[in-house]
Amino acid sequence: HILPVLLAGGSGTRLWPQSREQYPKQFLSLIDDHSLLQGTALRAVALPGALPPLVICGEQHRFLAAEQLRQVGVECSIALEPAARNTAPAAAVAAAFARERYGPETLVFLMAADHAIADQAAFVAAAQAAVGAAQQGRIVTFGIVPTRAETGFGYLKVGAALEGTEAFQVDRFIEKPDRPTAEEFLASGTHLWNGGLFLFRADVFLSELGRLEPQMMADATESYARGRADMDFVRLDRESFSRCRADSIDYAVMERTALAALVPMNAGWDDVGSWEYLDTLPLKDAGGNVAKGDVVLEGASNNLVSATSRLVALVGVEGHIVVETADAVLIAPRQKAQDVKKLAARLKESG
Ligand code: GDD
Ligand code: MG
Repeated sequence: HILPVLLAGGSGTRLWPQSREQYPKQFLSLIDDHSLLQGTALRAVALPGALPPLVICGEQHRFLAAEQLRQVGVECSIALEPAARNTAPAAAVAAAFARERYGPETLVFLMAADHAIADQAAFVAAAQAAVGAAQQGRIVTFGIVPTRAETGFGYLKVGAALEGTEAFQVDRFIEKPDRPTAEEFLASGTHLWNGGLFLFRADVFLSELGRLEPQMMADATESYARGRADMDFVRLDRESFSRCRADSIDYAVMERTALAALVPMNAGWDDVGSWEYLDTLPLKDAGGNVAKGDVVLEGASNNLVSATSRLVALVGVEGHIVVETADAVLIAPRQKAQDVKKLAARLKESG
């Protein structure tokens, strides 16, 4: 059996001003009528042999998460983080939950809740191809053929085929490289994007995390052991979870482990990470502009524009992101899409 675990505790700051602290991107409907979380949950329960998913999110979003999952009829448990500690502690909690509920060798399928995946059948096939290697003790990632020198992703250097499995060795895992390095990887033909999905045995992940990050592993598993179930929620212990060092699974584990493996995935995947995601929607006009909402363009080219409450007009503007909401407007050149995160952080500091 596979336990799908949906990571829904991110803040989505690169999608400011639409993604806000109270309403981060995984709860927004950006691709279709479903929110990103709902889309991920529906993908998870369609996996053959999937157990009822575990969703992990911030406690402040518990009702939003529960209501959205109810709307799409997905039965699940929801673990609540008293503070955001990035994905590595959440992965440890997922493994501790899987071990206790279903046994140490349970396969955990860690899924980001900010992906668009067009081809469900190809997604299921990739997940199934990963099972053998995961059962043999590998932490399996999913490799996507890169189409741009994206600096917001991790890269996998593809190694030798792993005998008796459909997976390959990961020779190197590089999280969020700088632009020259990303360009080098794109040109190399030997690097894939890390798809942000991970399949591993609960016991394997916990022992590897215990080796690499003993304190984090102790704090995170303690937060689960001392947590309490309350209605449909699993409340993690505040003190031990807050003690965890914040880090992502990519930096804390994947860049440092020798257990990393990959299976290729060609499923129309993208990470809805920054405003550049608009470029992947089938909305492009002859000038290369993508416009969502009430937008008029005159002599404008290659812009990404989103309007939610007013008419937005661009004249002679090129290569910009323009996002309008009821109370804030963002304007940025497209190459600076990742820097929206810095701005959102500053706004948060200044309240
Ligand atoms: N529960 C919980 N708690 N979830 C979190 C937290 C947290 O503190 N922080 C982030 N998440 C969730 C996000 O909501 C998202 O669904 C997922 O974990 C991944 O976090 P991101 O912040 O979106 O990561 P990323 O996109 O920068 O990078 C990761 O994904 C890329 C592909 O999507 C990495 O794994 C990259 O290597 C990868 O290429
Ligand atoms: Mg992401």
